[in-house]
Amino acid sequence: MASSGIFIKGGRVVNEDCSAIADVYIENGKIVEVGMGLQIPAGTRVIDATDKLVMPGGIDTHTHMELAFMGTKAVDDFHIGTKAALAGGTTMILDFVIPQKGKSLLEAYNCWRETADPKVCCDYSLHVAVTWWSDKVKKEMEILTKEKGVNSFKMFMAYKDVFMLSDSELYAAFSQCKQIGAIAQVHAENGDLIAEGAKKMLALGITGPEGHELCRPEEVEAEATQRAITIAHAVNCPLYVVHVMSKSAAKVVSNARRDGRVVFGEPIAAGLGTDGTHYWDKEWAHAAGFVMGPPLRPDPSTPGYLMDLLANDDLSVTGTDNCTFCVCQKALGKDDFTKIPNGVNGVEDRMSVIWEKGVHSGKMDENRFVAVTSSNAAKIFNFYPQKGRIAKNSDADVVIWDPKLTRKISAKTHHQAVDYNIFEGMVCHGVPVITISRGKVVYEAGELKVSPGHGKFIHRKPFSEFVYKRIKQREQVGKPTAVIRKPYEGKVICK
Ligand code: URP
Ligand code: ZN
Ligand code: ZN
Ligand code: ZN
Repeated sequence: MASSGIFIKGGRVVNEDCSAIADVYIENGKIVEVGMGLQIPAGTRVIDATDKLVMPGGIDTHTHMELAFMGTKAVDDFHIGTKAALAGGTTMILDFVIPQKGKSLLEAYNCWRETADPKVCCDYSLHVAVTWWSDKVKKEMEILTKEKGVNSFKMFMAYKDVFMLSDSELYAAFSQCKQIGAIAQVHAENGDLIAEGAKKMLALGITGPEGHELCRPEEVEAEATQRAITIAHAVNCPLYVVHVMSKSAAKVVSNARRDGRVVFGEPIAAGLGTDGTHYWDKEWAHAAGFVMGPPLRPDPSTPGYLMDLLANDDLSVTGTDNCTFCVCQKALGKDDFTKIPNGVNGVEDRMSVIWEKGVHSGKMDENRFVAVTSSNAAKIFNFYPQKGRIAKNSDADVVIWDPKLTRKISAKTHHQAVDYNIFEGMVCHGVPVITISRGKVVYEAGELKVSPGHGKFIHRKPFSEFVYKRIKQREQVGKPTAVIRKPYEGKVICK
């Protein structure tokens, strides 16, 4: 009988800390052995990986599949979106449950699970957004953490009157995250300033996509990033800044890390691979295609700068914020940039874009590539080494990567549902030739062979050691203490 195993022969196995030529034997969804001279059952499928890299499948920390948002719905659903992920070498996504203000977090979570579970083609997990505050929300955060496999909560500092929290609500939410061992995530932009800036731009007659950036310049992002870091520090809560889009905000994260704060910054493929000069394109549809929040920045040195920080561990992980709307959906804002649904593509192209701009350019090595596309996410969100590592007993989520091949990104050939691609025409070195998910070859020779429901929900436990060891120790030794004094016995003024 043919074995269900897979034997990957002669490749260069790349983990975040080292690389070595080794064979990898996979069976029943797990990596059984990594080494040389392995004994394998007869009939095992052998994949020759000579001159190729064998890496942990990518983990995209930030997606919004089929999100209902700004009057429409993202076109990449959990089926198409996760298939596209696999075609690009990504084997797990972390999506966001976003309840409406006033609605139950648990009900929203259940709704996301019911939608995603039967559709996903790769493994996935869920962050949950806290869009309002009450005792019920606080309790539900605890239940989600203890019983539902969630250990990260996103708080919005933007989208005034829709998702935005006040500083005191952020304080309460961060305090609860610390209490239950979760990671606080922030969308860091000053929502009040954006609302005022948008009114100003429209009054000036600026209705096109350039208004989207002009109403929220870099300092609007940097200020909120600093504020979130200050609030998180006040409650000794670990902080994760999603979609770091500007040099200014990245510097704030970097400085905070140097000041010893437990903070992680997540640039996204869009911010690393392209820039905000497109908002000034003469063709409206082209410019609108890049609208997302926080915006891409018109300073063309931004992507290279973010990549340098990513290479040097000032920034830690990469996502995509994949939230795709076709041009006709973007056109909801044809006369008013505030109505353009926010979001861009990335889930399929993240790995290639980061390889091209990061590794091929010489900014980072293959090991750092694995760290920022996979391992660090698994460590922060507490499923390492189940994922994020090529090692015995780890999940068999693997990408076989040819660093010499090139491919040209195009909406004509991508697997996503969206009808354009922000990386259109970019030629990338580094091509996923085979993707293995849960021990099955799901992408090979340009073909996807996977069915909806192949992926599974990954439960994540609280108190990730990678994040919480320092937090717990600081909690013990860092408590302020009162000065012991003799009581004051002098005169007290009469009232
Ligand atoms: O433009 C964006 N980022 N759309 C998705 C929602 C969010 O803020 O992440
Ligand atoms: Zn966001
Ligand atoms: Zn352009
Ligand atoms: Zn997002």
